[in-house]
Amino acid sequence: MIKIAPSILSADFVNLERDIQRVSSADYLHVDVMDGAFVPNITIGAPVVKSIRKCTGMFLDVHLMVDKPARYVEAFAQAGADLLSVHLEADHPTRIAEALRLMDRCGVKKAVALRPITKAEAVLPYLEQLDMVLVMTVEPGFGGQAFLESQLDTIRKVRNMIETYNPACELEVDGGIAPRTAPLAVQAGANVLVAGSAVYGAADIPAAIAALRG
Ligand code: DX5
Ligand code: ZN
Repeated sequence: MIKIAPSILSADFVNLERDIQRVSSADYLHVDVMDGAFVPNITIGAPVVKSIRKCTGMFLDVHLMVDKPARYVEAFAQAGADLLSVHLEADHPTRIAEALRLMDRCGVKKAVALRPITKAEAVLPYLEQLDMVLVMTVEPGFGGQAFLESQLDTIRKVRNMIETYNPACELEVDGGIAPRTAPLAVQAGANVLVAGSAVYGAADIPAAIAALRG
């Protein structure tokens, strides 16, 4: 079963509660945290996640696009995140491992994320303990970018490694997911699709979510 994770990056932040309720037929709520250093954009922090936690029971899938993410694991876990994704490019491998240990200690699910430049094999040292791998299908930082078809090969490779080493691990893709690209990502092996503009830009949001699920 394919899961849909609407990204609130494309929501109206003044009407965030309303826009969260509008995607309640989806599976996860994807929260993009950007620090203005790992990526050029700045978005939201732990206090906003804490407020979101009060207004929805949805699974909060928090994508940390921040440098040295181990520094923020406890804050986002305490704010109510259900899963945290840390980018492999955001720190040295020992500190990424430390971030994952902190997630265990805080009781949140664990994911690592890959920028388009990062090879699929980079997930291998962590794979057996992960709940999810996030493969970026755009350069992280902004919504509304075009899907990078060159990432289909990375999705396929990560899917193969998941089947070998940790079949329960989910494979999420993020960036440029729309009715045309969703089936390409699913065929390559993704089972969780993040979608910002394709969901919030739709006239009928529940129909858009259902269409992406396929
Ligand atoms: C980009 C973010 C994405 C973004 C996706 O850095 O990680 O989650 O919101 O937006 P769309 O679906 O519009 O490409
Ligand atoms: Zn994201």
